Amino acid sequence: MTAPLLSVRRLAKSYATDGVQTHVLADIDLDLFAGDFVAVMGPSGSGKSTLLYCMSGMDAPTSGEVRFRNRDLAKLPERDIAEVRAQHFGFVFQQANLVSNLTLFENIAVPGYLKNGRSPAQTQKVARGLVERMGLAADAHHLPSQASGGQQQRCAVARSVVNEPDILFADEPTGALNRANTLEVLDLIGGFHAKGQTVCMVTHDVRCAVRATRVLYLEDGAIKGELALPPWSEAVNATGNASPKAREAQVNAWLSSLAW
Ligand SMILES: Nc1ncnc2c1ncn2[C@@H]1O[C@H](COP(=O)(O)OP(=O)(O)OP(=O)(O)O)[C@@H](O)[C@H]1O
Ligand SMILES: [Mg+2]
Repeated sequence: MTAPLLSVRRLAKSYATDGVQTHVLADIDLDLFAGDFVAVMGPSGSGKSTLLYCMSGMDAPTSGEVRFRNRDLAKLPERDIAEVRAQHFGFVFQQANLVSNLTLFENIAVPGYLKNGRSPAQTQKVARGLVERMGLAADAHHLPSQASGGQQQRCAVARSVVNEPDILFADEPTGALNRANTLEVLDLIGGFHAKGQTVCMVTHDVRCAVRATRVLYLEDGAIKGELALPPWSEAVNATGNASPKAREAQVNAWLSSLAW
């Protein structure tokens, strides 16, 4: 059996605020394998973002292990964790958070210069390819303030993969987008997954979750259930346009069974 890319064992996270201890995550076990597309769902406050931050080394667990390629992130010094994040992980959030005085192209390319073993010219080639794929070619010289919300988020998605990360982490990447832009961003992330990208995405939206191959349901800081789905491309090809609806119905029925 192949080793997981990332494995979480007995992960717990709690916060102490004004002397009161809040237990946010308790006893989480989870393996993420290369090629997985995991969607994390659950009620607001259930700990989805906290789990994503602990898995990606952005936050430190209170106890337990998060192993990436068998290195325990919780035990690494901050400098090494920063290295893992820069070289191996990509991030997309609800807001694009682009650098306001860089063009869209520069926003995509700049983090790419940190990638080990790649020349600036190679990074620029990767960035130009992403600009094309994101449909940003005509606007790549614009500043973020001159771009629409959808363009900004497509730029943020491109930026997240410029380092060809092993894992793309996304926290409600479509949460601030309208329907058309949501579908575009999903198609882009789904396109990367279809080419082999491993994805871990928090979402409230069933239209997003149906793109995944594994849907996790988090409640009160614990994983309450998991639904396995065939790859999205198979679902679409097998029965044509009607199938996304059937898949949404399947996920909705599963969520209802968990009292979503
Ligand atoms: N820095 C912090 N200090 C104290 N409590 C925190 C902190 N960060 C998160 N929490 C608490 O942890 C719980 C889980 O938060 P988290 O942001 O992970 O939830 P979520 O499932 O992502 O919710 P949402 O769907 O609303 O984004 C919440 O009760 C929140 O108040
Ligand atoms: Mg959240």
